[in-house]
Amino acid sequence: SRPLVIAVDGPAAAGKGTLAKALASRLSLPYLDTGLLYRAVARRMIDAGLDPAGDASAQAEALEQEDLRRSDLRVPEIDRGASLVASQPAVREALLERQRVFAAQTGAVVDGRDIGTVVFPDADVKFFITASPRARALRRHRQVHGDAAITEAELDAAIAEIIARDSRDSSRDTAPLVQAADALLIETDELSAEQVLEKAHEEIRRRI
Ligand code: C5P
Repeated sequence: SRPLVIAVDGPAAAGKGTLAKALASRLSLPYLDTGLLYRAVARRMIDAGLDPAGDASAQAEALEQEDLRRSDLRVPEIDRGASLVASQPAVREALLERQRVFAAQTGAVVDGRDIGTVVFPDADVKFFITASPRARALRRHRQVHGDAAITEAELDAAIAEIIARDSRDSSRDTAPLVQAADALLIETDELSAEQVLEKAHEEIRRRI
């Protein structure tokens, strides 16, 4: 039988990566962070002096394994650039096969925006992870700045940035961010990472 594929979708900074990594380790499956693919395409555009809103299909086709290991992919400029290149159908098309090939041999826990809807519509188990924009902005701040205090103005700016990115991801024509009909919704505002993991793991046990 085909190896296990688990899809983890949702908006920015909702806890997808944390959950997907923990599930992968518990199930002994590889973890694929598909956001890195779009981030690396945006990085190539910016490094070449190009606007990431412009045609990025050549950069997507040229993507190599080393591009994904760069340490400068999680910066605000790339948050925005990735969502701009990700709205281009030719870029998504160029990256689709890579994602499928990655999971075909071994199975995988795959995190992204369109995994349960487009990349692996027949995934064994699908999750849609979400949280309020405020909770997500606070988490992102903690990831970057640790326990350093955040001002109201900084928090407002971070929330606005998250809402702008979500709305670009949700409103694009190709593979928009949307919950698959058969995905389990987990709202993480009031849950610890451990509680999210337990809920997800319970669902996997029930479904497979
Ligand atoms: O998940 P992450 O924040 O790293 O993703 C960066 C951007 O890449 C997202 O805002 C989204 O525009 C795009 N993306 C996507 N489809 C995926 C994963 C990421 O469109 N499967």
